[in-house]
Amino acid sequence: MAVIIKSTTPFEGQRPGTSGLRKKVKVFQQPGYLENFVQSVYDVIGDFSGSTLVVGGDGRYYNKEAIQIILKMAAANGFGRVLVGRDGILSTPAASCVIRKYEAYGGLILSASHNPAGPDEDFGIKYNIGSGGPAPEGVTEAIFARTENISEYKILEVDDIALEKIGVTQIGEMQVEVIDPVTDYAELMQSIFDFDAIRELLSGDFRMAFDAMHAVTGPYARVILEEMLGAPDGTVINGIAMDDFGGGHPDPNLTYAEELVDMMYGEHAPDFGAASDGDGDRNMILGSHFFVTPSDSLAILAANARLIPGYTDGIAGVARSMPTSAAVDRVAERLGIDCYETPTGWKFFGNLMDADKVTLCGEESFGTGSSHVREKDGPWAVLFWLNILAVRRVSVEEIVKEHWMLYGRNYYSRHDYEGVDAVAAEEMMAYLRSRFEKLPGNNFGERIVKACDDFSYTDPVDQSVSSGQGIRVLFEDGSRIVFRLSGTGTEGATVRIYIESFEHDPERHGMDAQEALSDLIEAAAIISRLQEFTGRSEPTVIT
Ligand code: G1P
Ligand code: ZN
Repeated sequence: MAVIIKSTTPFEGQRPGTSGLRKKVKVFQQPGYLENFVQSVYDVIGDFSGSTLVVGGDGRYYNKEAIQIILKMAAANGFGRVLVGRDGILSTPAASCVIRKYEAYGGLILSASHNPAGPDEDFGIKYNIGSGGPAPEGVTEAIFARTENISEYKILEVDDIALEKIGVTQIGEMQVEVIDPVTDYAELMQSIFDFDAIRELLSGDFRMAFDAMHAVTGPYARVILEEMLGAPDGTVINGIAMDDFGGGHPDPNLTYAEELVDMMYGEHAPDFGAASDGDGDRNMILGSHFFVTPSDSLAILAANARLIPGYTDGIAGVARSMPTSAAVDRVAERLGIDCYETPTGWKFFGNLMDADKVTLCGEESFGTGSSHVREKDGPWAVLFWLNILAVRRVSVEEIVKEHWMLYGRNYYSRHDYEGVDAVAAEEMMAYLRSRFEKLPGNNFGERIVKACDDFSYTDPVDQSVSSGQGIRVLFEDGSRIVFRLSGTGTEGATVRIYIESFEHDPERHGMDAQEALSDLIEAAAIISRLQEFTGRSEPTVIT
């Protein structure tokens, strides 16, 4: 059981963001590639000798092979113990939960989120710190810098470690403890939500469907919904986790969660439908023939939080990413709590939660969460909705419509233009910036531009400044258009245009969002000269 030191060459890393390092499986399979990244992590995260590391992933292709390498390297580098999910499985929120519960030094999470899986698809790895949240930029930058000048890595020469059974194996000086991937997470859920009330709801006429999209939430949903909460067998669809996610694209939205959407808009639609993504951090919520936008969902969770045992004392504050609709702002105002507007991405919420400034947070991109962990959490959001439904005993649609009555409706839509020429996209953004002075005062139909800016955020906790986070065109009537380039796309550039308007009048709450926003959609094209720059006239995805 010797520690082997192998020499290696630096690799052309990719600056790992908060979603870590994401590449094709074939790239990760190159000799030394994963090892370089893992050793770079171990080299820069500080003195962890004798402490605990948490390891698990969404079960995609290459998950098991990667975990063997990570464990053998953890032992060679001096970790005292590794907690690893059985068969190498841990959803992203469950990994965050386990890191916090066992006060681990940190964790390595293997996932490429909602991206397809398989030998020719994507793989990913990221490091989370002891709070359970993604490593902050200082750490990811240090990892990146290390990948560029690394010359060797350490690995223990041992046989593969058995991960199929709960139990402890000793390798070298380190213990590998295989844990049930669901138990700790399920216990946490039980400590937040009223499982009795939900069980009663599910034992009556109420019908629900949960689409696990053949990804990691299958086993979580089967245990929590079907075993613990007594939902009938078959409630969880596509519940068998597969290493290629059944060939699908496990992103819970109206386009990719097709089977669930057909069911929810079909003849005998269940009362409630939900889906989660590849690694279990995103969620989509549907009622019978009714879609709840993620922005509205966040606002509704905030408005109803006191109905949930875990939040009966109220919530400290809320946060949303800048492009997310302002629906939750109105709830915060009424509750008399702070509402923070952060740049896109989950990392900004962590500081606010660690400082007890916010309890709930979310993004328009189907991510919602709370301070129970430091990642967004798909099944948590589903249980939150179920708990509200169990208490209020009205339909999803009624809850949303009543919410609009009370607070007004924020019509909202995001238009994505994928695979746009990267230079053209940058030029369009530069053109928009050049018009900041000229646009205010101009009118587009009835709407008059009030101000334009490039969103900048000063973290209220550590005072760090993040600028250039998206161009905002704000109108006098409260509506707005936001332009930003995706930071996660893989081919060319993805232009995202977020469009929002506010409607107080309940008589006007029944419109289709695209129709209600049509004049702003037109204005967005005129203001940005989108077609001239990109050659595109229609978005590739509308959410
Ligand atoms: C997208 C979403 C963003 C989310 C991120 C990671 O990033 O828009 O809200 O945090 O994925 O899941 P983008 O491609 O827009 O940079
Ligand atoms: Zn995800």
